[in-house]
Amino acid sequence: MAIEKYLVTSALPYANGDLHIGHLAGAYLPADIFVRFQKLLGNDVIYICGTDEHGTPISIKADQKKVPPRKIVDKYHRRIKSVFAGLNFCFDNFSGTARPVHYKISRQFFTNLYKNGYITTHTNKQLYCPHCKRFLPDRYVEGECPFCHSKEARGDQCDACGKLIDAIQLINPVCITCGHNPIIKETTNWFLNLPKFSDKLKKWIESKTEWKDNVKKFILGWLKSGLKERAITRDLDWGVPVPIENAKGKVIYVWFEAPIGYISSTIEWAERIGQPEKWKDYWFDKDRKLIHFIGKDNIPFHTIIWPAVLMGQDEDYILPYDVPANEFLNLEGRRISTSRNWAVWVNEYLEDFSADPLRYYLAANAPENKDCDFVWKEFQEKYNTDLANILGNFVNRVLKFSDKNFNHEIPFPTKLSAKNKEILEDISSVRDNVKQFYKTFKVRKACKSIIDLARFGNQYFDKTSPWTTIKSNPDTTAEAIYICGEIIRNLAIMIYPIIPSSAERLWNMLNFDKSILEYGWDGLLVEQNNPIKIGKIETLFEKIPDDIIEKQIQKLKGNNIMTKEESKETIDFETFKKLDLRIAEIISAEKVKNADKLLKLKIAVGDNIKQIIAGIAKHYAVEDLIGKKILIVNNLKPTIIKGEKSEAMLLAAVDGEKLTLLIPDKDIPEGSKVL
Ligand code: 2FM
Ligand code: ZN
Repeated sequence: MAIEKYLVTSALPYANGDLHIGHLAGAYLPADIFVRFQKLLGNDVIYICGTDEHGTPISIKADQKKVPPRKIVDKYHRRIKSVFAGLNFCFDNFSGTARPVHYKISRQFFTNLYKNGYITTHTNKQLYCPHCKRFLPDRYVEGECPFCHSKEARGDQCDACGKLIDAIQLINPVCITCGHNPIIKETTNWFLNLPKFSDKLKKWIESKTEWKDNVKKFILGWLKSGLKERAITRDLDWGVPVPIENAKGKVIYVWFEAPIGYISSTIEWAERIGQPEKWKDYWFDKDRKLIHFIGKDNIPFHTIIWPAVLMGQDEDYILPYDVPANEFLNLEGRRISTSRNWAVWVNEYLEDFSADPLRYYLAANAPENKDCDFVWKEFQEKYNTDLANILGNFVNRVLKFSDKNFNHEIPFPTKLSAKNKEILEDISSVRDNVKQFYKTFKVRKACKSIIDLARFGNQYFDKTSPWTTIKSNPDTTAEAIYICGEIIRNLAIMIYPIIPSSAERLWNMLNFDKSILEYGWDGLLVEQNNPIKIGKIETLFEKIPDDIIEKQIQKLKGNNIMTKEESKETIDFETFKKLDLRIAEIISAEKVKNADKLLKLKIAVGDNIKQIIAGIAKHYAVEDLIGKKILIVNNLKPTIIKGEKSEAMLLAAVDGEKLTLLIPDKDIPEGSKVL
């Protein structure tokens, strides 16, 4: 069969934070599985990724930490890369978008579009924070979504409804740095003339009949509402400088240049392997299938804007062949949230587990067509049942039995019964199904078919009960064990894309001369026709015990699960400590002229006599107040109320019309501190 050619990418993760399971389930694990599968088939494939190192999430983090953005980017690039290594990812190259090669090619892309008449310039209104003295692009501002009215929309996108937003459309915008409301100020930026690509895009997308429904629905919705010009520059200092004169202080919008990172990372790869021109085989070959794995929030950028950017170049870049976007993964019934720390961080996961339990659970429970839920108990259950009890147990019983009774080999029988021949055919049709599932990004189904085959293996082993026939009928026993061996050989290869390191351990027990990848999917097409030497038999999957799972659940519960709104309204202890709360004694009280709600009180606080104006005239008679001990805020800045000085504030509880002063429960001298 002809070799197929692929170029596979995963969305470039922002280098401003660690990876959590939601990221993995969306854009990463499905890609790694696909690539490993293609490598098994012997197809020509490379897997390209890197970190997305610009954009306001990074500038904001750098501002908050008071360090240069590059420091943040380098730190998270390293952390993200090491987490991927811990999960056995098989990237051919993992780059970053703050590298010179990326700057160069991004500027070229921009220049080409400009020269080809696809870029316009407009001076228009932007949000500007007078307090921070800067424009507030994208995530520098938050507010109410103009579409779904979620209160937590950012200046570039609303996570609640997934719509892209122009910051200026936000209702009640707030500067995230200082909390002030921004003003509107004019600035000049450059725009991608998307309407010019409308027809071409429409035609192209109509040809994509095989795309996932969620993706098609999204794009057609966009096209229907009409494409608009989109700003592709920003008033920021961290990013790729706009390659045009008079563009000082402007950088290329991160979403314009991030996907170009797929190309710059490929160029970096080609240079690294000493064939600097080779990247062109991947970006200009019409037979190559470019597949972008992304989460669903990235759909518009990869299916409209990015293809338009490619179409507007001088060279004939290939366009995305497929964009299999996944839905979201929730965690224990709630949306994963970085800001609320409602997440399972992969680096923390790796402190307690190896890669494969997570790879397996996320594959078997992949959010392919709908949002899915990660539940720790299910994670344990799924692993212990499918892998330890079914697959692991099957392998273990067969190999141990065969090792003992067939001289450390899986036998090759002299004949096969019709029934057993049928079973071999069944195995081959499972294999065809699994192949088709992998090809079409249906990893859940692939998992299920594989485990079903292992389950069948167990039942077959039970039914043929070789331990009872070995003495009386060694030939039929050999036949049965051979069939089990065939199942195991197939399982090892088929499950390799999902749990590569366990599959390799299984493979090592079978002692083939070739590695799994060398042997490949096609190695399965030939029935095994000689005995297999059994190597050292190890337990493939140790069951995950309850206490480790309990620990994870406790950790999650202990995480800060306040909402963003709540956490904005909280103060830290240092701030609280600044309040000087005291007990004071009222020594005189009188009405304030021309103000029927106010009383003027003289209070004693330690050595001081202070005057306060309090709105309690409707609730307390003057004579009842004298001698009362009350609670006050002692260190408020004095102010003038109705012409009278007020030097502190008393505390009272209110419920609608009702008001009551807070009075100490036991007698305590005035001036006492309230803690
Ligand atoms: O959503 C994100 O995490 C982006 N950093 C994805 C970028 S994908 C590509 F365009 F680089
Ligand atoms: Zn501000």
